[in-house]
Amino acid sequence: MHLRCISCAATLDLHERALACRNCGDLLEVVIHDVAIDPADLKHLWLERRMSSSSRSSSGVWRFREFLPGDYSEQQVVTLGEGNVPLVRGHKTADWVGLKNLSFKHLGWNPTGSFKDLGMTVGMTEAKFVGANAVGCASTGNTSASMAAYAARARIQAKVYLPAGKLSHNKLAQALDFGAEIIPVEGSFDLALDTMLHSGDDVYFLNSINPFRLEGQKTAMFELLEQLKWQVPDYVVVPGGNLGNSSSFGKAFDELIAAGLIEKTPRLVVVQAAGANPFSKLYQTGAKELTPTEHPETVATAIRIGHPRSWKKALKAVQHSNGFVMDVTDEEIADAKAMIGRDGIGCEPASAATLAGLRKLTKEGQIDRDANVVAMLTGHALKDTDFIISSQHRQENAALAEVHP
Ligand code: F0G
Repeated sequence: MHLRCISCAATLDLHERALACRNCGDLLEVVIHDVAIDPADLKHLWLERRMSSSSRSSSGVWRFREFLPGDYSEQQVVTLGEGNVPLVRGHKTADWVGLKNLSFKHLGWNPTGSFKDLGMTVGMTEAKFVGANAVGCASTGNTSASMAAYAARARIQAKVYLPAGKLSHNKLAQALDFGAEIIPVEGSFDLALDTMLHSGDDVYFLNSINPFRLEGQKTAMFELLEQLKWQVPDYVVVPGGNLGNSSSFGKAFDELIAAGLIEKTPRLVVVQAAGANPFSKLYQTGAKELTPTEHPETVATAIRIGHPRSWKKALKAVQHSNGFVMDVTDEEIADAKAMIGRDGIGCEPASAATLAGLRKLTKEGQIDRDANVVAMLTGHALKDTDFIISSQHRQENAALAEVHP
């Protein structure tokens, strides 16, 4: 296995600690060698591992390790037992959007309450493997919470660059709880990321431009398909911020097809917030280059990002899967969030962008009522309790909007 530039295909050793191509500066990806195991045997092996008493094998990320980089030993893996999260059917939410088959895969039910843990277990394992003394990230809150926790497990110092006053208290509290050093940056996530990348600090960077992160995150699709008994859904819907997650799902689909584990891909739908929608604009206009949003603004602070770094990877994922990209307003996000709450599931605002997007698509007749749809919920409801309290009236509206049988 090795690293490869997504533009000029230049290669690097797997453990080079590089975030960008030395030739052209574009992003890197991990190239997984062909997995020469019979698909039926793999499916069986992965299910069996789930019952294992080994921390590596029972992890919902590492049980898929035939498709992960590194070949790390049981002792080298830094894990908190991430993954293995349920797929929950939406009832009231399905009626509300007018779909017959809607399920939520709740990645917010991970150790630190977000999907970031899936990537962080791989990123932190690699950081430890290459001997990093400190790790760093910029974050809208969830990456920092996750990185801080996994760094604590790995006994590595954590430095987090955060947009001052722009992330939820609950997420900040997590980073503090896990002992991270907090560096507030006056400005957006984008500025925090630039500040960190140019800080000259000797830290191992753990934002999703780090290709190891995406390797862990892609396993969400392996697990989803396993839960669906390898029956491919029609659509997978995901919120888009820095676009690491959507990129990782696209990579998963390509690898699953190449290995003969599935025969077609679901259509990937990426939903952005209207005030932070550079990727949606790129897709709608067919532009060749992304134009960053100067002052991104949305109540869904997790995806308040104006300059998504992984847009090229995400665009490839959308195109390969015949998917599309859209955006929804803060009002639509808030209503959808309250409705997910009525189903007893709950999530943070950014996650609800998925349901808001689906409502728009069904209203416009763009998705068939009979389609099999999986919406990815990326963060736990308790990630942003201020939002819930300040928008309590939405719950009352949601109760009124419930479709009664
Ligand atoms: N949903 C939640 C809850 C998030 O925290 C994020 C990103 C996203 C969706 C978007 O994912 O960036 O891969 O497109 N949060 C990052 C952070 C940026 O710092 O926690 P993406």
